[in-house]
Amino acid sequence: MKEQLEEIRRRAMSELGDNADEAQVDAVRVRVLGRSGELTEIMRRMREVPNEERPAIGQLINQIKREVEARVEELSEKLKAAALDKSLNEKRIDVTLPGMRIARGRIHPITDIMEQMLQIFESLGFEVEMTQDIEDDFHNFEALNFKEHHPARDMQDTFYVEGGMLLRTHTSNGQIRVMEKRRPPLAIVCPGKCYRRDDLSVRASPMFTQIEGFMVDKIGRVTMAHLKGVLTQFAQAFFGATAIRFRASYFPFTEPSAELDMHCLLCDGAGCPVCKHSGWTEVLGCGMIHPNVLRAVGCDPAEYQGFAFGIGVERTGLLKLGVDDMRLFFENDLRFLAQFPALSGGVR
Ligand code: PHE
Repeated sequence: MKEQLEEIRRRAMSELGDNADEAQVDAVRVRVLGRSGELTEIMRRMREVPNEERPAIGQLINQIKREVEARVEELSEKLKAAALDKSLNEKRIDVTLPGMRIARGRIHPITDIMEQMLQIFESLGFEVEMTQDIEDDFHNFEALNFKEHHPARDMQDTFYVEGGMLLRTHTSNGQIRVMEKRRPPLAIVCPGKCYRRDDLSVRASPMFTQIEGFMVDKIGRVTMAHLKGVLTQFAQAFFGATAIRFRASYFPFTEPSAELDMHCLLCDGAGCPVCKHSGWTEVLGCGMIHPNVLRAVGCDPAEYQGFAFGIGVERTGLLKLGVDDMRLFFENDLRFLAQFPALSGGVR
């Protein structure tokens, strides 16, 4: 029996070599130590052992049991550590690789330009008021001195919507909306979207942004000279030292009327599609508010006087950002939109 035990020990230990894998270790554990394993089997046969040999055999069984257990334990630990090592190696993470970029939104360059313009006017004492995009004929045309069959209505090809309403063709409705509820002195800017049945081109779009501005006070307090002063200040603050010119023009709601042109920054005056090859780009219309407009909002033109202007934000944006095609602003290609530095620091 002793030889038999030594044989069990020899076999078990040789099978539990350093290269034994998990399955082999487990097989030895079950065969030797299991409930119906080799050692259990021997214990059952202890009756056959002569009395005087029993203690020695018992000791030997216990010794082999502990030895095999210890070795199985040792190998299992080793195998577990190796498996962990292996999985860490296979799933190695390079912590020096750049992380996934989390895209941050930003305001649209046109909104940003608009915001910057509003800030300049606010610094000159203007207040910002929002008015509506969907308008009636009275506020978009009639009160602004476009009579019913006035040919100037054709200058602004209008989108009509249900219920006799229309999409405003300019932000000049803001003059009427604000003066209907507030009395002069007023210095107001009204930013917003406008709509005209224009085809999308390098310099025009069926939807565009304007900032309407107007200042009204007692006669003599707001003159054409103030108009020129405010707009020159604005152009300098927005563009820096760039040549501008006032050119006589016509609008039904101002008299006299003018347009402000900027030296075309895209071609430096040489001529390009954006400035229609003239070297100058029209950025705004302006003039002294027509007496009929003041009358339409219940302001006596014998007592009050004022000026108004309307700036095309996309036009101005093209020059400011050095973009030569307005369509790019509306295509929503993030590669284009993301490349402009923020100018205004946010939206109100
Ligand atoms: N409303 C005019 C336009 O859209 C611009 C303008 C505004 C002109 C105010 C004069 C005064 O073309």
